[in-house]
Amino acid sequence: MKNKINKIKDLALKEVSKMKSLANLESLKIKYLGRKSELTNILRGLKDLSKDERKEVGEMANKLREEIEESIKYQVSGIKQRELGDIKEKEKIDVTYPGTKIKKGHLHPLTQVRYEIEEIFKSMGFLTVDGREVEDEFHNFDALNMPKNHPARDMQDTFWLKNGTVPRTQTSSVQIRFMEKNKPPFRIVSIGRVYRNENSDATHDFNFNQIECLMVDKSGKIMVANFKSVVSEFMKGLFGKGTKTRLRPSYFPFVEPGFEFDASCPYCSGKGCRICKGTGWIELGGAGMVNQNIFTSVGFSENKYEGFAFGFGVERIAMIKYGIDDTRLFYGGDLRFLEQF
Ligand code: DAH
Repeated sequence: MKNKINKIKDLALKEVSKMKSLANLESLKIKYLGRKSELTNILRGLKDLSKDERKEVGEMANKLREEIEESIKYQVSGIKQRELGDIKEKEKIDVTYPGTKIKKGHLHPLTQVRYEIEEIFKSMGFLTVDGREVEDEFHNFDALNMPKNHPARDMQDTFWLKNGTVPRTQTSSVQIRFMEKNKPPFRIVSIGRVYRNENSDATHDFNFNQIECLMVDKSGKIMVANFKSVVSEFMKGLFGKGTKTRLRPSYFPFVEPGFEFDASCPYCSGKGCRICKGTGWIELGGAGMVNQNIFTSVGFSENKYEGFAFGFGVERIAMIKYGIDDTRLFYGGDLRFLEQF
């Protein structure tokens, strides 16, 4: 009997010491200490032994039981310790390790150009004002000397909303909004989205951005010369000091006289190239001296004030500045395009 106990002891302690997983230790525990184990059997059979043997074998068996329990406990704590060590190693944080760079975005090229334009006008004392994107017919057309059935309305193919308002077709409406609340003298610039029912192609889209400028003072104080000076300062600021400006007679209902203005091509300095289609000039926008009808439509007396206004497209400016040949790229959201700016 004593031999048997010693054998169990050797076997059990050896097996336990080799075990590496908690689950396997659990089954060893059942194997050596469970209800059906040899040791339990021996303890159960003690009652059939002589008094002396019972004492001796009983002591040995109980001692072995404790020993096996102890060694399993020891083994379990070793395994747990090791697992904890692994976790610590895996989840270690080195606070001195350089961080992962977060990819930063940047302003859209149109926004960059917009800020640049606003900055140039600000340096000439112009105030930046905001307008509405949805306008009523009066502010978008009538007050700008474009009454119903005026042929000039045909130049701006309009989206009409069901309630008679329009996504504005031009930022000139800001002139009216501003003068309804403010008396001259003032100089303002407004940049924002306009909408026209056009098919998209490389140079047209159903929505684009326009810049509107308006400078007004008492009659006799502002002349075409002032306009020319402001616009040429602006062009120089945007395209470089050597840029020249040219005015051509044109017609817009809200100005009299009216012009279109061109800048000398910044790519070939006026010699003629692919960008300016060989002309040396780049058409930029419309302008003129404010028609007196505009002043009377906002309640000013006729001939009390004089001023100039001009307007042009932001996309066009950005296209020339960066050599972009398709306006739809601005709205495509393609990072390969956007990341170049
Ligand atoms: N609003 C005009 C357009 O969208 C551009 C324009 C022309 C604005 C002449 C002006 C101006 O202020 O004087 O075609």
